[in-house]
Amino acid sequence: MKVYFVGAGPGAPDLITLRGARLLGDVRMVLYAGSLVPTEMLRHCRHDAEMIDTAQLDLEQQQACYERAQAQDIDVVRLHSGDPAIYGATAEQMRRLDALGIAYEVVPGVSSFTAAASAVTAELTKPEVSQTVILTRVSGRASAVPELESIARLAAHQATMCIFLSGPHLKKIVADLRLHYPDSTPVTLVYRATWPDQRVYQGTLATVLEETRRGAWNLTTMMLVGAALDKGAQVESSLYSKDFTHLFRVVKKNKDKPEPAEISATVHEVRS
Ligand SMILES: C[S@@+](CC[C@H](N)C(=O)[O-])C[C@H]1O[C@@H](n2cnc3c(N)ncnc32)[C@H](O)[C@@H]1O
Repeated sequence: MKVYFVGAGPGAPDLITLRGARLLGDVRMVLYAGSLVPTEMLRHCRHDAEMIDTAQLDLEQQQACYERAQAQDIDVVRLHSGDPAIYGATAEQMRRLDALGIAYEVVPGVSSFTAAASAVTAELTKPEVSQTVILTRVSGRASAVPELESIARLAAHQATMCIFLSGPHLKKIVADLRLHYPDSTPVTLVYRATWPDQRVYQGTLATVLEETRRGAWNLTTMMLVGAALDKGAQVESSLYSKDFTHLFRVVKKNKDKPEPAEISATVHEVRS
């Protein structure tokens, strides 16, 4: 018997991994976070699977489900929105599984921050603009953020920031970001990325509060901030430059014969 923590992705049922979908089709018990995982995702499940929405359950009740599956010796999928490693509250479940002697495995998923970037076809990292992506949130009722990681402190880096669970705190977040980022910094809000009712706002730190209706972005919203979101940023990576060589590509002077001396011994960042 095993528990599989599976990333469901941001919402669209075809954004789960092949491995995740296969496991959903195999197991006889599925626990899923009903507030963030759409029911259409459950179409990947076998018809006789027991499907349990964890939105109504506390940790002890979820543990009771795992114990029941253990007694029946059946595998379980615990479906988490996006990727289970990010704000998934998986660690406390794993501690309990350890105590019960139940094995588990994690199957990654498409996180909502990349889904939000895809909604506006943004590249979050641009040479000389920002090469760093900060995934963060503000303190909520359930989880406190360490002071060293406050938005005001992180903003000092002026990196690309992806702010989870941010909607209800928009005013304070914008004020803290403006301590360091210029007012012209692009801001994107994506509500329910990849769901049929996805909504997108694109503006700047100076305009976002005026141009968005209060409360309209409270739930399931990803906030992206940073100069890299500016489509006008013109600096290009050398990676695909015709003069740039790396281990997997050599410049051919003679079209039939690559010159070995041109093969750089250094492996630079290589994208597939
Ligand atoms: C508890 S966290 C789970 C994050 C998830 N593990 C992930 O990797 O995306 C919930 C927050 O993730 C963000 N989120 C999850 N799904 C989203 C989506 N489809 N569109 C926009 N934001 C989403 C929102 O900020 C939401 O408040």
